[in-house]
Amino acid sequence: MIKVAPSILSADFTKMYDAVKLLEKAGADYIHCDVMDGTFVPNISFGQYMVRDLRKHTNLPLDVHLMIAHPEKYIEEFAQAGADIITVHEEATDHLDRALQMIRAAGKKTGVSLNPHTPVETVEHVLYNTDMVLLMSVNPGFGGQSFIPSALDKARKLRNMIDRMGLCVDIEMDGGIGPENVKEVTDAGVNVIVAGSSVFNADDPADVIAKLRLEK
Ligand code: DX5
Ligand code: ZN
Repeated sequence: MIKVAPSILSADFTKMYDAVKLLEKAGADYIHCDVMDGTFVPNISFGQYMVRDLRKHTNLPLDVHLMIAHPEKYIEEFAQAGADIITVHEEATDHLDRALQMIRAAGKKTGVSLNPHTPVETVEHVLYNTDMVLLMSVNPGFGGQSFIPSALDKARKLRNMIDRMGLCVDIEMDGGIGPENVKEVTDAGVNVIVAGSSVFNADDPADVIAKLRLEK
């Protein structure tokens, strides 16, 4: 089962309520929330108060992607704000295992994200504590960038590793994905697709979401 997680980073920030209602109607599985701090990534987006306010208006799972330095400082706040999945970057913390334990302790699903250059082996020893690995297929910081093909090899390797260990871990891929390349992505073992510009720039977001789920 493929899930589609549209990123509201590509929405009009003055119309977030409309964006959420549009995604509900269009059949999104999650709402992907890209949190950027201007330090870990060269851009600033929004923080926990956006998550809190989105939570008031939707029952869709909020998939919070923390592109922030020292994410453990803010895990509790994002959990309280109503995140369902909290993903931290392996590169952003010295204590990944602890960060994941904090997310679990807060009753949320755990995610680990890897930048394009980070080998999948870096998550091997935390997989037992991880619900989802988010592989970046662009350098994080901006929507609308081109897909980096080496992410596909990483997905294949990671899917093998997860299967070999007998675990059940989602693989999410983020950046530069649209109907034209989604098949390669899912063939590589990815089962959660993030899509920002391909959904929000479309005339018919529901059609794009169905295509991303390979229903069309
Ligand atoms: C990049 C973000 C992505 C991005 C996806 O830093 O994590 O979620 O917004 O946007 P597209 O699909 O346009 O590449
Ligand atoms: Zn993201």
